[in-house]
Amino acid sequence: MNNFINQLPKAELHLHIEGTLEPELMFALAARNQIKLPYSSIEEVRNAYQFQNLQSFLDIYYAGAKVLIHEQDFYDLTWAYLQKAQTQNIRHTEIFFDPQTHTQRGITFKVVISGIRRALVDGQNKLNISSHLIMCFLRDLTAENALQTLEEALPYKHWLTAVGLDSGEAGNPPSKFREVYAKAREHGLLAVAHAGEEGPADYIWEALDQLQVLRIDHGVRCLEDPTLVIELAKRQIPLTICPLSNIKLCVFKSMELHPLKKMLEAGLCVMVNSDDPAYFGGHINENFLAAQKGLELTQQEIYQLAKNSFQATFLSMQQKAKFITELDEYYQTFILPADLYGNAVDTNVQDHAGLQKIPIIHS
Ligand code: ADE
Ligand code: ZN
Repeated sequence: MNNFINQLPKAELHLHIEGTLEPELMFALAARNQIKLPYSSIEEVRNAYQFQNLQSFLDIYYAGAKVLIHEQDFYDLTWAYLQKAQTQNIRHTEIFFDPQTHTQRGITFKVVISGIRRALVDGQNKLNISSHLIMCFLRDLTAENALQTLEEALPYKHWLTAVGLDSGEAGNPPSKFREVYAKAREHGLLAVAHAGEEGPADYIWEALDQLQVLRIDHGVRCLEDPTLVIELAKRQIPLTICPLSNIKLCVFKSMELHPLKKMLEAGLCVMVNSDDPAYFGGHINENFLAAQKGLELTQQEIYQLAKNSFQATFLSMQQKAKFITELDEYYQTFILPADLYGNAVDTNVQDHAGLQKIPIIHS
């Protein structure tokens, strides 16, 4: 099973680039930028990663991001993630970044996005990993601040595929960002939002109805509302699940109690992601392995999760079909005799793209 998971072609759709900052790179950037860290060793940093809830994590995560100052820092951060992604056979990734975490500290939007974008282009050209970039608004800040951030982003909108919503969920409902999402959509950006991680199922309804999101990030609390589950399954709204994150942030007590398998069984379009791998103890393959073990997922269920990951991307129908063919060929080498290789492409491929974007795959 380990080999099967490690080499499985997959897409990652819920990954905060600031959450990939490993303590080693944090120390290197702190030295390069002459920033004093509140830790004296890498071990001390890792020991600090004990979280009681989302907010206790966010406090440490935003503090860590302060070492990111120059365009090259954002490049190095993103490039390190892409190199890791290649070893995990991530074929396509749709990454989040939080511009306000940096612009609030006086770093320009241009510095942040240029470093990330340069690495993503190199990721396509040198590692054959395609990507899309999603700009998240910090929901604990004001709607005005989000609108201002969208204005700053508009000159770079051809580098962006979607807007997202993250940070402290409780008390910051999606409806707070209705206007900024409407404006982002007018400019051709797609929409996703974190909802139902710590917040209630009602926030998932709000994200669907008021923000018109095409995917829900986390969404694990949808199970508290059977009508919502039926709606999500009927519309095949993808839910980007992050198993290790949910355990580390105490959303569920143990992996054995994680609802991923139940969600698959309910016909929901769920897949596995790493969220903030440097903080939660593993990248996507470690998430697959932990979920497989805790929930006794079968090879067929693992295959379905990987297939959902491609179905749920913002790629075109042809691009999705290409990746799913690659996945099917891989799966068949594991489960079927060699004379059945090369089965037909799944014709039931959905297209979420809908827009003429400039994804890295075309650059
Ligand atoms: N920012 C980074 N990781 C996050 C998470 N899991 N939930 C909300 N905001 C985040
Ligand atoms: Zn997240």
